[in-house]
Amino acid sequence: MTDQLAPERNVTGADIKLDGVVKRYRGQRAPAVERLDLDIDAGEIVAFVGPSGCGKTTTLKMINRLIEPTEGRIFIGGRDVTREDPDKLRQSIGYVIQSGGLFPHWTVAKNVGAIPRVLGWDRKRIAERTEYLLDLVGLDPATFADRLPKDMSGGQQQRVGVARALAADPPVLLMDEPFGAVDPITRVRLQDSLIGIQHELGKTIVVVTHDFEEATKLGDKVLILSEGGHVEQYAAPEEILTDPATPFVEEFVGSGAKLAYLTVSRVRDVPYDEVVTARVGEPAQAVIGRARAAGQTWVVVVDEAGRPRSWPSLTEVATKPEVSDFLDRRLPVVARSSTLNDALDAMLAASQGAALVTDGRGAVVGSLSIGAVTETIQAKLAEVHSEEDDYETYVDGTDPTPTPVVAADDEPGSAEPA
Ligand SMILES: Nc1ncnc2c1ncn2[C@@H]1O[C@H](COP(=O)(O)OP(=O)(O)OP(=O)(O)O)[C@@H](O)[C@H]1O
Ligand SMILES: [Mg+2]
Repeated sequence: MTDQLAPERNVTGADIKLDGVVKRYRGQRAPAVERLDLDIDAGEIVAFVGPSGCGKTTTLKMINRLIEPTEGRIFIGGRDVTREDPDKLRQSIGYVIQSGGLFPHWTVAKNVGAIPRVLGWDRKRIAERTEYLLDLVGLDPATFADRLPKDMSGGQQQRVGVARALAADPPVLLMDEPFGAVDPITRVRLQDSLIGIQHELGKTIVVVTHDFEEATKLGDKVLILSEGGHVEQYAAPEEILTDPATPFVEEFVGSGAKLAYLTVSRVRDVPYDEVVTARVGEPAQAVIGRARAAGQTWVVVVDEAGRPRSWPSLTEVATKPEVSDFLDRRLPVVARSSTLNDALDAMLAASQGAALVTDGRGAVVGSLSIGAVTETIQAKLAEVHSEEDDYETYVDGTDPTPTPVVAADDEPGSAEPA
């Protein structure tokens, strides 16, 4: 492991290795995937991105052998899965498709328990697992376990799809454009919830998308493919943005690359403020006293799981003897894993100068002000500009060593200008 920032991270995923994998479809002259070698580390999210028809889905489906490779071998956790029984293999790999792919006439609980039933788990174990997973993906089991998919929103169905894919605790999760069919705000929530789940469970996740921004947000690494499953670049998002490997990548990432760099800045990279929380039904005076003691003029009303319901001022709290159970559906809420772009969007959508920050399960951990975001963005921009200058000097062919004048500007007094 080289991940020094998170040495204690729990990894339950397995590594995946593609070794000289080729796919030729019958009747097609050019192979859909030409010859792909790829190493995916256990516990990482890798995002496949590239233009339509470049072979993303084909590659993904070869990993669980929904599509058989024409040549080459695929290893999961060191096992050569090209020699395994494909049905068994698929029980050990979670698979999520666009729109969730749920069985429409089955309740949510029955959908989630599908694979455990095949594996012969007893009812109690299946019920416990289902409850745990629904909670993990942010759906209240009491409300949703007995619903049919048609009576749920697209985003909720997608969450069930994720829960179902995780049901048998597979080390690997494959997702093909999982958030393609939901509105932009739900999409951001689902992305954040996936990052939270990944953090908690440490699975290996391969996710296909054709949205480059989504790829940089979700992926610990991003694989950029061009036609024929050709690897243009396979690297961490920051590296792709700051150091595109080929002209194809440069064009794909777009001329906004430097700006896109901002979308890799996360809420967790910005200092956020503490909030005082209150429960529905608490005496208003007690809450007001607590908030004042903490120097706050607002409180966040939370549910039993710590998830925010409303964000009233102390003046509003004082109008009732107890904290009311009002649920504000327009609260600006962002996850720690949200990008600063997402955070700004959430604030703008709610016309507020701040947003609540939540952890992977949606419990509130603080608030983020627009001022803190602006400061960070400005600092980043300054950084990016100075990098741009360095880069230009370098490609000019001039000596990249700073001139004494620059050094003198940077450290006053360290060098005497002539
Ligand atoms: N069953 C098939 N038979 C023949 N050709 C196929 C088949 N499935 C895919 N192809 C071809 O293989 C190539 C790669 O397809 P694939 O579905 O992997 O692309 P993709 O990158 O997932 O694209 P998209 O972003 O549009 O989903 C395409 O040229 C496609 O037309
Ligand atoms: Mg596809």
